[in-house]
Amino acid sequence: MNAQRLQGKIAIVTGAGRGIGYGIGEYFAREGAHVIVAEINRETVYKATEHFSSVGAEALAYPIDIGDTDAVAQMVRDVTARYGRIDILVNNAGLSERVGLLEMTPERWDTLLRVNQRGLFFCLQTVANQMVAQLPESVKQAGKADKSYGKIINISSIAGRRGRADAIHYSVSKSAVITITQGAAMALAAYGINVNAICPSVVPTQLWYQLDEVLAKRDGLQPGEWLKQRIERVPLKRAGTAEQIGAMCAFLASEEGDYITGQTYNVDGGSELN
Ligand SMILES: NC(=O)c1ccc[n+]([C@@H]2O[C@H](COP(=O)([O-])OP(=O)(O)OC[C@H]3O[C@@H](n4cnc5c(N)ncnc54)[C@H](O)[C@@H]3O)[C@@H](O)[C@H]2O)c1
Repeated sequence: MNAQRLQGKIAIVTGAGRGIGYGIGEYFAREGAHVIVAEINRETVYKATEHFSSVGAEALAYPIDIGDTDAVAQMVRDVTARYGRIDILVNNAGLSERVGLLEMTPERWDTLLRVNQRGLFFCLQTVANQMVAQLPESVKQAGKADKSYGKIINISSIAGRRGRADAIHYSVSKSAVITITQGAAMALAAYGINVNAICPSVVPTQLWYQLDEVLAKRDGLQPGEWLKQRIERVPLKRAGTAEQIGAMCAFLASEEGDYITGQTYNVDGGSELN
């Protein structure tokens, strides 16, 4: 790891209490960023924050439901009041479940889309407004930037690359993350704000363990067996790690990623080739 590429940066990571978000937060803290842990779980939000502060720069716990747009607006005001600015947003928080097309209900659809799509978009928009407000006057007047002034990274999924028969709402939400990324990158390019997305495939987290519990039972398999078989289908024949997603996020968030915007990267062991 290159030491301290994010020295002193102010980074909000949503859903950083566990799983991939935790890996991203830890990576960022080690790279010198102050991580704001924007997490709905009131236990993990404090545990993760304590850990990030112990491995790197001081972190801040911010218990929040990112689907609540008023709460997101308040978070952006609070973080700005405390640190003076926001440099990085990682939109990682997300819900996942398997539901067949014939069993889908409006309630399940709305619950998932509220967080993965609507919540993600308004988090991005609210932080982007702050990033624009904190730009030097010269950049605002010129309508072009001499360097990157903000970084936004959205966590999509390989499920956003093609439809999933048993998770259409999840697929829809994750393909929306890709098009939101493209649109936002174009809208914010003149301000020097880079927006990119990452598609993980199988990073064993609670999200996958919960799926395994349901799907192993459905398919008459031992606990853990469904997930094992799923990992075997990844071309590299191994699961990814939250740290690997953190490494990609850190690269994009650092100066090394300054000329990259509007892109979506598969970090997926070769699962998708586009
Ligand atoms: N794990 C994988 O293999 C994988 C693959 C593709 C995409 N992803 C995506 O990566 C992201 C993280 O996944 P994960 O596997 O770490 O999941 P996870 O369920 O282990 O962790 C998600 C975290 O987000 C938090 N969260 C959920 N809803 C929230 C809300 N409304 N407000 C704030 N926080 C909220 C949860 O409490 C949890 O801490 C998700 O967007 C997921 O869709 C994961």
